[in-house]
Amino acid sequence: MSYLESRGLDKKTVEKFGIGYSYKSWDGLLHHFTEEEIFTPEEVEKSGLIIKKEDSKNSYYDRFRGRLMFPIFNEYDKIVGFGGRKLYEDDLGGKYINSPESKVYSKSRILYGLNFAKEKIRYYDYVILVEGYMDVIALYKNEIENVAASSGTALTEEQTRLLSRYTKNVYLLFDSDMAGIKAAKRGIELLLESGFDISIISLPFGEDPDSYIKNNGKKEFDKRIQEKMSFINFIAEYYRKENKLESVEEKTIFIKEMIGYISKIPDRIKRSLFIKEISSEYKLNESILTDELNKILRSGKNNSFPKSSLSLPEKKTDESSKSFYGNNNFESELLELFIHGNEEALAFLENNLHTEYIKDRKILSITEKILDEIINHGSLDISAVINELKEDGEKEILSRISNNKYEASYLEKSGSDNLLSQSASPVYTIKNAEDLVKKFRIRELEIKRNEIRSDPGKMLEVFEITKEINELMKN
Ligand code: CTP
Ligand code: MN
Repeated sequence: MSYLESRGLDKKTVEKFGIGYSYKSWDGLLHHFTEEEIFTPEEVEKSGLIIKKEDSKNSYYDRFRGRLMFPIFNEYDKIVGFGGRKLYEDDLGGKYINSPESKVYSKSRILYGLNFAKEKIRYYDYVILVEGYMDVIALYKNEIENVAASSGTALTEEQTRLLSRYTKNVYLLFDSDMAGIKAAKRGIELLLESGFDISIISLPFGEDPDSYIKNNGKKEFDKRIQEKMSFINFIAEYYRKENKLESVEEKTIFIKEMIGYISKIPDRIKRSLFIKEISSEYKLNESILTDELNKILRSGKNNSFPKSSLSLPEKKTDESSKSFYGNNNFESELLELFIHGNEEALAFLENNLHTEYIKDRKILSITEKILDEIINHGSLDISAVINELKEDGEKEILSRISNNKYEASYLEKSGSDNLLSQSASPVYTIKNAEDLVKKFRIRELEIKRNEIRSDPGKMLEVFEITKEINELMKN
Protein backbone atom coordinates (compact mmCIF):
# COMPACT_ATOMS: atom_id res chain seq x y z
CA MET A 1 0.00 0.00 0.00
CA SER A 2 2.81 2.40 0.79
CA TYR A 3 4.36 1.68 -2.58
CA LEU A 4 1.08 2.48 -4.30
CA GLU A 5 0.87 5.65 -2.29
CA SER A 6 4.38 6.62 -3.28
CA ARG A 7 3.29 6.21 -6.90
CA GLY A 8 0.34 8.49 -6.27
CA LEU A 9 -2.38 5.91 -6.76
CA ASP A 10 -5.55 6.29 -4.77
CA LYS A 11 -7.88 3.53 -3.67
CA LYS A 12 -10.39 4.17 -6.41
CA THR A 13 -7.79 3.77 -9.14
CA VAL A 14 -6.29 0.69 -7.50
CA GLU A 15 -9.69 -0.93 -7.38
CA LYS A 16 -10.61 0.07 -10.90
CA PHE A 17 -7.52 -1.58 -12.33
CA GLY A 18 -7.58 -4.49 -9.90
CA ILE A 19 -4.02 -3.86 -8.81
CA GLY A 20 -2.81 -6.35 -6.23
CA TYR A 21 0.15 -8.05 -4.71
CA SER A 22 1.64 -11.52 -4.95
CA TYR A 23 3.06 -12.96 -1.73
CA LYS A 24 6.78 -13.12 -1.48
CA SER A 25 6.73 -16.88 -1.22
CA TRP A 26 7.30 -19.86 -3.49
CA ASP A 27 3.92 -21.43 -2.97
CA GLY A 28 1.46 -18.86 -1.64
CA LEU A 29 -0.82 -19.00 -4.65
CA LEU A 30 -0.30 -22.71 -5.21
CA HIS A 31 -1.48 -23.43 -1.68
CA HIS A 32 -4.43 -21.13 -2.01
CA PHE A 33 -5.72 -22.99 -5.04
CA THR A 34 -5.02 -26.50 -3.84
CA GLU A 35 -6.19 -26.08 -0.26
CA GLU A 36 -9.47 -24.55 -1.25
CA GLU A 37 -9.72 -27.16 -4.01
CA ILE A 38 -10.56 -24.43 -6.47
CA PHE A 39 -8.37 -25.72 -9.26
CA THR A 40 -5.91 -28.54 -9.65
CA PRO A 41 -2.24 -27.61 -10.06
CA GLU A 42 -2.43 -28.79 -13.70
CA GLU A 43 -5.20 -26.30 -14.32
CA VAL A 44 -3.43 -23.44 -12.61
CA GLU A 45 -0.32 -24.21 -14.58
CA LYS A 46 -2.27 -23.68 -17.79
CA SER A 47 -3.08 -20.18 -16.64
CA GLY A 48 0.63 -19.49 -16.30
CA LEU A 49 0.36 -18.53 -12.64
CA ILE A 50 2.39 -21.46 -11.41
CA ILE A 51 5.32 -23.22 -13.03
CA LYS A 52 6.20 -26.91 -13.00
CA LYS A 53 9.62 -27.66 -11.56
CA GLU A 54 12.01 -28.91 -14.18
CA ASP A 55 12.80 -32.50 -13.24
CA SER A 56 9.94 -33.24 -10.98
CA LYS A 57 6.56 -34.62 -11.84
CA ASN A 58 4.16 -33.00 -9.48
CA SER A 59 5.95 -30.13 -8.00
CA TYR A 60 5.07 -26.54 -8.79
CA TYR A 61 5.98 -23.02 -7.67
CA ASP A 62 4.46 -19.54 -8.03
CA ARG A 63 5.50 -17.51 -11.04
CA PHE A 64 4.84 -14.13 -9.42
CA ARG A 65 6.50 -13.64 -6.06
CA GLY A 66 6.58 -10.37 -4.18
CA ARG A 67 5.34 -8.28 -7.08
CA LEU A 68 2.83 -5.58 -7.72
CA MET A 69 0.23 -7.30 -9.85
CA PHE A 70 -1.60 -5.78 -12.79
CA PRO A 71 -4.41 -7.89 -14.21
CA ILE A 72 -4.42 -7.72 -18.00
CA PHE A 73 -7.88 -7.46 -19.45
CA ASN A 74 -8.98 -8.29 -22.95
CA GLU A 75 -11.23 -5.80 -24.70
CA TYR A 76 -14.29 -7.47 -23.19
CA ASP A 77 -13.19 -6.94 -19.58
CA LYS A 78 -12.07 -10.53 -19.06
CA ILE A 79 -8.81 -11.02 -17.22
CA VAL A 80 -6.54 -13.06 -19.47
CA GLY A 81 -3.13 -12.59 -17.86
CA PHE A 82 -1.03 -10.62 -15.42
CA GLY A 83 1.92 -8.31 -15.38
CA GLY A 84 3.98 -8.25 -12.20
CA ARG A 85 6.24 -5.32 -11.32
CA LYS A 86 9.33 -5.88 -9.26
CA LEU A 87 9.20 -4.38 -5.76
CA TYR A 88 12.21 -5.80 -3.94
CA GLU A 89 15.89 -5.25 -4.54
CA ASP A 90 16.68 -8.92 -4.00
CA ASP A 91 14.31 -9.95 -6.77
CA LEU A 92 16.59 -11.04 -9.58
CA GLY A 93 13.86 -11.18 -12.21
CA GLY A 94 13.16 -8.46 -14.74
CA LYS A 95 11.38 -5.22 -13.90
CA TYR A 96 8.20 -6.72 -15.24
CA ILE A 97 7.23 -10.36 -15.53
CA ASN A 98 4.21 -11.15 -17.64
CA SER A 99 1.97 -14.18 -17.97
CA PRO A 100 3.21 -16.56 -20.65
CA GLU A 101 1.30 -16.94 -23.87
CA SER A 102 -1.73 -19.12 -23.30
CA LYS A 103 -5.00 -20.03 -24.88
CA VAL A 104 -6.48 -16.76 -23.70
CA TYR A 105 -3.47 -14.46 -23.51
CA SER A 106 -1.35 -13.43 -26.40
CA LYS A 107 0.81 -10.40 -25.81
CA SER A 108 0.69 -9.35 -29.43
CA ARG A 109 -3.07 -9.06 -29.50
CA ILE A 110 -3.68 -7.25 -26.25
CA LEU A 111 -3.75 -3.53 -25.75
CA TYR A 112 -3.64 -2.84 -22.05
CA GLY A 113 -6.51 -0.66 -20.91
CA LEU A 114 -8.52 -0.93 -24.12
CA ASN A 115 -11.46 -2.43 -22.21
CA PHE A 116 -11.73 0.70 -20.07
CA ALA A 117 -11.00 3.06 -22.92
CA LYS A 118 -12.99 1.86 -25.89
CA GLU A 119 -16.13 3.93 -25.44
CA LYS A 120 -14.09 7.07 -24.88
CA ILE A 121 -11.89 6.31 -27.88
CA ARG A 122 -14.94 6.10 -30.05
CA TYR A 123 -16.38 9.24 -28.54
CA TYR A 124 -13.26 11.39 -29.01
CA ASP A 125 -12.34 9.55 -32.21
CA TYR A 126 -8.71 9.17 -31.22
CA VAL A 127 -6.64 7.02 -28.94
CA ILE A 128 -3.55 7.97 -26.98
CA LEU A 129 -1.15 5.10 -27.29
CA VAL A 130 1.41 4.76 -24.50
CA GLU A 131 3.97 2.11 -23.57
CA GLY A 132 3.35 1.10 -19.99
CA TYR A 133 0.78 -0.11 -17.52
CA MET A 134 1.57 2.78 -15.21
CA ASP A 135 1.15 5.27 -18.03
CA VAL A 136 -2.38 4.11 -18.76
CA ILE A 137 -3.26 4.22 -15.09
CA ALA A 138 -1.74 7.64 -14.46
CA LEU A 139 -3.59 9.20 -17.37
CA TYR A 140 -6.80 7.48 -16.39
CA LYS A 141 -6.49 8.84 -12.90
CA ASN A 142 -6.28 12.32 -14.44
CA GLU A 143 -9.47 11.74 -16.35
CA ILE A 144 -7.81 11.10 -19.67
CA GLU A 145 -9.53 7.87 -20.49
CA ASN A 146 -9.04 7.29 -24.20
CA VAL A 147 -5.71 5.63 -23.60
CA ALA A 148 -4.22 2.18 -24.13
CA ALA A 149 -0.74 0.65 -23.94
CA SER A 150 1.21 -1.64 -26.19
CA SER A 151 2.93 -2.91 -23.01
CA GLY A 152 6.51 -2.44 -24.04
CA THR A 153 6.40 -4.49 -27.23
CA ALA A 154 6.62 -3.14 -30.70
CA LEU A 155 3.12 -2.47 -31.92
CA THR A 156 1.73 -5.43 -33.83
CA GLU A 157 -0.64 -5.73 -36.72
CA GLU A 158 -3.14 -7.48 -34.49
CA GLN A 159 -3.08 -4.54 -32.11
CA THR A 160 -3.69 -2.06 -34.91
CA ARG A 161 -6.58 -4.20 -36.07
CA LEU A 162 -8.07 -4.07 -32.59
CA LEU A 163 -7.73 -0.30 -32.52
CA SER A 164 -9.19 0.13 -35.95
CA ARG A 165 -12.55 -0.95 -34.62
CA TYR A 166 -12.75 2.17 -32.52
CA THR A 167 -10.88 4.89 -34.38
CA LYS A 168 -8.41 5.57 -37.12
CA ASN A 169 -6.62 8.37 -35.30
CA VAL A 170 -3.69 7.53 -33.07
CA TYR A 171 -1.72 9.90 -30.88
CA LEU A 172 1.55 8.24 -30.06
CA LEU A 173 2.89 9.10 -26.65
CA PHE A 174 5.99 7.06 -26.12
CA ASP A 175 8.70 7.43 -23.54
CA SER A 176 11.10 10.14 -24.44
CA ASP A 177 14.23 8.04 -24.50
CA MET A 178 16.05 6.31 -27.34
CA ALA A 179 14.05 3.11 -26.90
CA GLY A 180 10.83 5.07 -26.97
CA ILE A 181 11.78 6.98 -30.11
CA LYS A 182 12.76 3.77 -31.87
CA ALA A 183 9.49 2.16 -30.86
CA ALA A 184 7.63 5.23 -32.09
CA LYS A 185 9.30 5.03 -35.50
CA ARG A 186 8.38 1.38 -35.90
CA GLY A 187 4.87 2.16 -34.73
CA ILE A 188 4.52 4.97 -37.25
CA GLU A 189 5.37 2.68 -40.11
CA LEU A 190 2.88 0.03 -39.15
CA LEU A 191 0.13 2.52 -38.41
CA LEU A 192 0.60 4.32 -41.71
CA GLU A 193 0.42 1.02 -43.55
CA SER A 194 -2.82 0.30 -41.79
CA GLY A 195 -4.31 3.59 -42.90
CA PHE A 196 -4.25 5.40 -39.56
CA ASP A 197 -3.71 9.11 -39.17
CA ILE A 198 -0.93 9.68 -36.69
CA SER A 199 0.03 12.49 -34.37
CA ILE A 200 2.90 12.47 -31.96
CA ILE A 201 2.85 13.91 -28.48
CA SER A 202 6.36 14.56 -27.30
CA LEU A 203 7.67 14.84 -23.77
CA PRO A 204 10.89 16.28 -22.39
CA PHE A 205 13.78 13.83 -22.62
CA GLY A 206 13.75 11.15 -19.94
CA GLU A 207 10.11 11.53 -18.99
CA ASP A 208 7.33 9.04 -19.48
CA PRO A 209 3.64 9.95 -19.45
CA ASP A 210 3.23 8.83 -15.87
CA SER A 211 6.12 10.88 -14.53
CA TYR A 212 5.23 13.87 -16.68
CA ILE A 213 1.66 14.19 -15.53
CA LYS A 214 2.69 13.54 -11.94
CA ASN A 215 5.32 16.29 -12.00
CA ASN A 216 3.53 18.84 -14.14
CA GLY A 217 -0.17 18.28 -13.64
CA LYS A 218 -3.06 17.72 -15.97
CA LYS A 219 -3.09 21.23 -17.39
CA GLU A 220 0.45 21.02 -18.72
CA PHE A 221 -0.30 17.57 -20.00
CA ASP A 222 -3.34 18.78 -21.91
CA LYS A 223 -1.15 21.46 -23.43
CA ARG A 224 1.18 18.75 -24.69
CA ILE A 225 -1.76 17.06 -26.33
CA GLN A 226 -2.73 20.35 -27.98
CA GLU A 227 0.82 20.74 -29.28
CA LYS A 228 0.84 17.39 -30.98
CA MET A 229 2.93 17.12 -34.13
CA SER A 230 2.61 15.39 -37.45
CA PHE A 231 4.87 12.37 -37.82
CA ILE A 232 6.93 14.28 -40.35
CA ASN A 233 7.71 17.08 -37.93
CA PHE A 234 8.41 14.57 -35.20
CA ILE A 235 11.04 12.80 -37.26
CA ALA A 236 12.45 16.10 -38.51
CA GLU A 237 12.81 17.25 -34.93
CA TYR A 238 14.65 14.08 -34.12
CA TYR A 239 17.05 14.60 -37.03
CA ARG A 240 17.57 18.20 -35.96
CA LYS A 241 18.36 17.24 -32.39
CA GLU A 242 20.92 14.78 -33.62
CA ASN A 243 22.36 17.52 -35.86
CA LYS A 244 21.64 15.46 -38.90
CA LEU A 245 19.93 18.08 -40.98
CA GLU A 246 22.97 20.19 -41.79
CA SER A 247 24.54 19.06 -45.02
CA VAL A 248 22.91 18.37 -48.35
CA GLU A 249 23.67 14.67 -47.91
CA GLU A 250 21.99 14.56 -44.51
CA LYS A 251 18.94 16.39 -45.76
CA THR A 252 18.70 13.96 -48.67
CA ILE A 253 18.72 11.02 -46.29
CA PHE A 254 16.00 12.65 -44.25
CA ILE A 255 13.79 13.42 -47.25
CA LYS A 256 14.19 9.88 -48.52
CA GLU A 257 13.23 8.45 -45.17
CA MET A 258 10.14 10.66 -45.18
CA ILE A 259 9.14 9.54 -48.64
CA GLY A 260 9.64 5.97 -47.45
CA TYR A 261 7.06 6.55 -44.75
CA ILE A 262 4.70 8.27 -47.13
CA SER A 263 4.91 5.34 -49.52
CA LYS A 264 3.34 3.20 -46.80
CA ILE A 265 0.13 5.19 -46.83
CA PRO A 266 -2.56 3.33 -48.76
CA ASP A 267 -4.53 6.45 -49.72
CA ARG A 268 -3.18 8.18 -52.84
CA ILE A 269 -4.68 11.53 -52.04
CA LYS A 270 -3.19 11.53 -48.58
CA ARG A 271 0.16 10.59 -50.05
CA SER A 272 0.07 13.54 -52.41
CA LEU A 273 -0.92 15.94 -49.63
CA PHE A 274 2.06 14.84 -47.56
CA ILE A 275 4.32 15.30 -50.56
CA LYS A 276 2.98 18.84 -50.96
CA GLU A 277 3.69 19.51 -47.32
CA ILE A 278 7.29 18.38 -47.56
CA SER A 279 7.76 20.23 -50.79
CA SER A 280 6.73 23.54 -49.30
CA GLU A 281 8.40 22.98 -45.93
CA TYR A 282 11.77 22.09 -47.45
CA LYS A 283 11.44 24.12 -50.65
CA LEU A 284 11.76 21.18 -52.95
CA ASN A 285 10.22 20.69 -56.33
CA GLU A 286 7.07 18.64 -55.86
CA SER A 287 7.47 16.63 -59.03
CA ILE A 288 10.90 15.43 -57.96
CA LEU A 289 9.42 14.19 -54.70
CA THR A 290 6.58 12.54 -56.55
CA ASP A 291 9.02 10.80 -58.88
CA GLU A 292 10.93 9.52 -55.90
CA LEU A 293 7.72 8.29 -54.28
CA ASN A 294 6.66 6.51 -57.47
CA LYS A 295 10.03 4.87 -57.68
CA ILE A 296 9.53 3.35 -54.25
CA LEU A 297 5.96 2.37 -55.02
CA ARG A 298 7.02 0.67 -58.22
CA SER A 299 9.98 -1.10 -56.70
CA GLY A 300 7.62 -3.83 -55.61
CA LYS A 301 7.77 -3.53 -51.88
CA ASN A 302 4.58 -1.58 -51.88
CA ASN A 303 2.67 -2.71 -54.89
CA SER A 304 0.46 -5.10 -52.99
CA PHE A 305 -2.54 -4.12 -50.98
CA PRO A 306 -1.43 -3.03 -47.58
CA LYS A 307 -2.17 -6.07 -45.51
CA SER A 308 -3.57 -4.56 -42.42
CA SER A 309 -5.83 -1.98 -43.99
CA LEU A 310 -8.34 -4.71 -44.63
CA SER A 311 -10.27 -4.21 -41.48
CA LEU A 312 -10.15 -0.45 -41.25
CA PRO A 313 -13.35 1.51 -40.99
CA GLU A 314 -13.61 4.72 -42.91
CA LYS A 315 -13.44 7.69 -40.68
CA LYS A 316 -16.60 7.83 -38.58
CA THR A 317 -18.57 5.55 -40.84
CA ASP A 318 -19.21 1.96 -40.28
CA GLU A 319 -19.91 0.15 -43.46
CA SER A 320 -16.59 -1.07 -44.76
CA SER A 321 -16.91 -4.74 -44.09
CA LYS A 322 -15.86 -5.74 -47.59
CA SER A 323 -12.32 -6.80 -48.22
CA PHE A 324 -10.23 -6.18 -51.27
CA TYR A 325 -10.14 -9.84 -52.02
CA GLY A 326 -13.21 -10.75 -53.93
CA ASN A 327 -15.76 -12.95 -52.39
CA ASN A 328 -16.06 -13.08 -48.65
CA ASN A 329 -19.48 -14.62 -48.59
CA PHE A 330 -18.28 -17.85 -47.16
CA GLU A 331 -17.13 -16.09 -44.01
CA SER A 332 -20.65 -16.04 -42.61
CA GLU A 333 -20.70 -19.83 -42.88
CA LEU A 334 -18.30 -19.73 -40.01
CA LEU A 335 -21.00 -18.28 -37.78
CA GLU A 336 -23.46 -20.94 -38.90
CA LEU A 337 -20.96 -23.57 -37.95
CA PHE A 338 -20.41 -22.08 -34.53
CA ILE A 339 -24.13 -21.93 -33.91
CA HIS A 340 -25.13 -25.32 -35.24
CA GLY A 341 -21.94 -27.31 -35.00
CA ASN A 342 -21.56 -30.30 -32.73
CA GLU A 343 -19.00 -30.37 -29.97
CA GLU A 344 -16.29 -31.86 -32.14
CA ALA A 345 -16.81 -29.25 -34.83
CA LEU A 346 -16.56 -26.45 -32.29
CA ALA A 347 -13.42 -27.87 -30.76
CA PHE A 348 -11.89 -28.10 -34.22
CA LEU A 349 -12.70 -24.47 -34.97
CA GLU A 350 -11.41 -23.33 -31.64
CA ASN A 351 -8.07 -24.98 -32.28
CA ASN A 352 -7.58 -24.51 -36.00
CA LEU A 353 -9.16 -21.29 -37.06
CA HIS A 354 -6.75 -18.37 -37.04
CA THR A 355 -8.64 -15.17 -36.56
CA GLU A 356 -6.23 -13.42 -38.95
CA TYR A 357 -7.95 -15.42 -41.68
CA ILE A 358 -11.16 -13.48 -41.23
CA LYS A 359 -11.34 -10.36 -43.35
CA ASP A 360 -14.85 -9.18 -42.67
CA ARG A 361 -14.62 -6.83 -39.74
CA LYS A 362 -18.00 -7.66 -38.28
CA ILE A 363 -17.63 -11.40 -38.63
CA LEU A 364 -14.20 -11.13 -37.07
CA SER A 365 -15.54 -9.24 -34.13
CA ILE A 366 -18.45 -11.64 -33.64
CA THR A 367 -16.13 -14.63 -33.92
CA GLU A 368 -13.82 -13.19 -31.31
CA LYS A 369 -16.72 -12.82 -28.91
CA ILE A 370 -17.83 -16.39 -29.63
CA LEU A 371 -14.34 -17.74 -28.97
CA ASP A 372 -14.19 -15.69 -25.85
CA GLU A 373 -17.46 -17.22 -24.66
CA ILE A 374 -16.29 -20.77 -25.43
CA ILE A 375 -12.98 -20.22 -23.67
CA ASN A 376 -14.49 -18.57 -20.62
CA HIS A 377 -17.51 -20.81 -20.17
CA GLY A 378 -16.41 -24.04 -21.77
CA SER A 379 -19.50 -23.98 -23.95
CA LEU A 380 -21.28 -21.64 -26.28
CA ASP A 381 -24.45 -19.86 -25.29
CA ILE A 382 -25.31 -17.98 -28.44
CA SER A 383 -27.90 -15.73 -26.82
CA ALA A 384 -25.28 -14.57 -24.32
CA VAL A 385 -23.02 -13.61 -27.21
CA ILE A 386 -25.85 -11.84 -28.99
CA ASN A 387 -26.52 -9.84 -25.86
CA GLU A 388 -22.91 -8.79 -25.65
CA LEU A 389 -22.72 -7.51 -29.21
CA LYS A 390 -22.89 -3.76 -29.26
CA GLU A 391 -21.50 -2.66 -32.59
CA ASP A 392 -23.85 -1.60 -35.34
CA GLY A 393 -25.20 -4.53 -37.26
CA GLU A 394 -23.36 -7.29 -35.42
CA LYS A 395 -26.29 -8.25 -33.23
CA GLU A 396 -28.47 -8.45 -36.31
CA ILE A 397 -26.05 -10.62 -38.24
CA LEU A 398 -25.76 -13.16 -35.46
CA SER A 399 -29.44 -13.28 -34.61
CA ARG A 400 -30.35 -13.65 -38.25
CA ILE A 401 -27.97 -16.54 -38.71
CA SER A 402 -28.99 -18.20 -35.49
CA ASN A 403 -32.64 -18.16 -36.58
CA ASN A 404 -31.74 -19.44 -39.97
CA LYS A 405 -31.87 -23.05 -38.91
CA TYR A 406 -33.47 -24.52 -41.96
CA GLU A 407 -31.81 -22.45 -44.60
CA ALA A 408 -28.23 -23.10 -43.71
CA SER A 409 -26.44 -22.91 -46.94
CA TYR A 410 -24.21 -25.78 -47.79
CA LEU A 411 -24.31 -28.20 -44.96
CA GLU A 412 -26.17 -31.42 -44.69
CA LYS A 413 -28.94 -31.78 -42.18
CA SER A 414 -28.76 -34.38 -39.49
CA GLY A 415 -30.09 -37.91 -39.76
CA SER A 416 -33.71 -38.90 -39.61
CA ASP A 417 -36.82 -37.06 -40.56
CA ASN A 418 -38.93 -37.83 -37.55
CA LEU A 419 -40.90 -35.24 -35.64
CA LEU A 420 -38.28 -34.81 -32.96
CA SER A 421 -35.52 -33.84 -35.29
CA GLN A 422 -37.66 -31.31 -37.08
CA SER A 423 -37.28 -28.85 -34.30
CA ALA A 424 -33.58 -29.50 -33.93
CA SER A 425 -31.05 -27.47 -35.85
CA PRO A 426 -28.98 -29.15 -38.48
CA VAL A 427 -25.85 -30.52 -36.90
CA TYR A 428 -22.62 -29.59 -38.53
CA THR A 429 -19.80 -32.02 -38.05
CA ILE A 430 -16.07 -31.84 -37.81
CA LYS A 431 -15.93 -32.57 -41.54
CA ASN A 432 -17.80 -29.33 -42.23
CA ALA A 433 -15.48 -27.48 -39.91
CA GLU A 434 -12.43 -28.90 -41.66
CA ASP A 435 -13.77 -27.92 -45.06
CA LEU A 436 -14.43 -24.39 -43.98
CA VAL A 437 -11.06 -23.89 -42.33
CA LYS A 438 -9.55 -25.19 -45.53
CA LYS A 439 -11.41 -22.52 -47.53
CA PHE A 440 -10.02 -19.82 -45.28
CA ARG A 441 -6.56 -21.29 -45.55
CA ILE A 442 -6.70 -21.41 -49.34
CA ARG A 443 -7.79 -17.82 -49.56
CA GLU A 444 -4.97 -16.79 -47.22
CA LEU A 445 -2.49 -18.52 -49.52
CA GLU A 446 -4.01 -16.84 -52.55
CA ILE A 447 -3.65 -13.43 -50.95
CA LYS A 448 -0.04 -14.16 -50.13
CA ARG A 449 0.56 -15.33 -53.69
CA ASN A 450 -0.96 -12.18 -55.15
CA GLU A 451 1.30 -10.08 -53.03
CA ILE A 452 4.50 -11.64 -54.26
CA ARG A 453 3.48 -12.65 -57.75
CA SER A 454 5.15 -9.76 -59.55
CA ASP A 455 8.42 -10.15 -57.70
CA PRO A 456 10.80 -12.14 -59.92
CA GLY A 457 12.89 -13.06 -56.89
CA LYS A 458 9.94 -14.87 -55.34
CA MET A 459 9.14 -17.26 -58.15
CA LEU A 460 10.03 -20.32 -56.15
CA GLU A 461 7.84 -19.21 -53.29
CA VAL A 462 4.95 -18.58 -55.67
CA PHE A 463 5.42 -22.07 -57.00
CA GLU A 464 5.43 -23.59 -53.50
CA ILE A 465 2.26 -21.74 -52.57
CA THR A 466 0.54 -22.87 -55.75
CA LYS A 467 1.48 -26.44 -54.93
CA GLU A 468 0.05 -26.11 -51.46
CA ILE A 469 -3.18 -24.63 -52.77
CA ASN A 470 -3.59 -27.45 -55.28
CA GLU A 471 -2.90 -29.98 -52.56
CA LEU A 472 -5.60 -28.45 -50.33
CA MET A 473 -8.12 -28.34 -53.15
CA LYS A 474 -7.54 -32.00 -53.92
CA ASN A 475 -8.46 -33.46 -50.53
N1 CTP B 1 7.71 -4.21 -19.89
C1 CTP B 1 7.77 -5.59 -19.85
N2 CTP B 1 8.89 -6.22 -19.38
C2 CTP B 1 9.96 -5.50 -18.96
C3 CTP B 1 9.93 -4.11 -19.05
C4 CTP B 1 8.79 -3.48 -19.50
O1 CTP B 1 6.80 -6.24 -20.21
N3 CTP B 1 11.03 -6.15 -18.50
C5 CTP B 1 6.50 -3.56 -20.40
C6 CTP B 1 5.48 -3.31 -19.31
O2 CTP B 1 4.20 -3.47 -19.88
C7 CTP B 1 5.72 -1.87 -18.94
C8 CTP B 1 6.12 -1.28 -20.29
O3 CTP B 1 6.82 -2.31 -20.93
O4 CTP B 1 4.58 -1.26 -18.41
C9 CTP B 1 6.94 -0.04 -20.22
O5 CTP B 1 8.13 -0.29 -19.51
P1 CTP B 1 8.76 0.78 -18.55
O6 CTP B 1 8.66 2.13 -19.17
O7 CTP B 1 10.11 0.28 -18.15
O8 CTP B 1 7.84 0.66 -17.25
P2 CTP B 1 6.73 1.60 -16.64
O9 CTP B 1 5.40 1.14 -17.10
O10 CTP B 1 7.09 3.02 -16.87
O11 CTP B 1 6.82 1.20 -15.11
P3 CTP B 1 7.34 2.09 -13.91
O12 CTP B 1 6.75 3.43 -14.08
O13 CTP B 1 6.84 1.36 -12.69
O14 CTP B 1 8.83 2.10 -13.97
MN1 MN C 1 7.08 4.74 -15.73
